[in-house]
Amino acid sequence: MQWSEKLSVDNELIDGQHQRLIEITNQVEKIFRVEEKTLLDYDEMVRILVKLNLYTLNHFGMEEKLLEKFNYPEEQLKKHKAEHQYFIDFLEDISVDKLNEKTDEVLLDIYAFLSNWILTHIRETDSKYKVFLKLHEQD
Ligand SMILES: [Fe+2]
Repeated sequence: MQWSEKLSVDNELIDGQHQRLIEITNQVEKIFRVEEKTLLDYDEMVRILVKLNLYTLNHFGMEEKLLEKFNYPEEQLKKHKAEHQYFIDFLEDISVDKLNEKTDEVLLDIYAFLSNWILTHIRETDSKYKVFLKLHEQD
């Protein structure tokens, strides 16, 4: 998965955070591709998932605060927040037992969800605030 200018929301800070999210997603894929996983790989896997959790909470919070600050239309903000929440719920619902038992299957599920959600969310939802943010940042 690669970030490209097409995914830019014209905000350096947010673009940087989206790039970081894509990087973390790629780390999930990398671990998935390790055939004979060692204990170190399991540690790394947990570390990546914790990092992803913290990073998204921080990123979503910042994005939402920015939109609230400029009075982003309420209906759109609500939808946007609901998408963030859906993502957070997905991460929270990952079962550690299942991850230990069926590691590859679960990792593939996580990777597929992340790559699909992130790209769709940036393209379809974040892109909606692109012009809005540009206009208000000049205030
Ligand atoms: Fe967002």
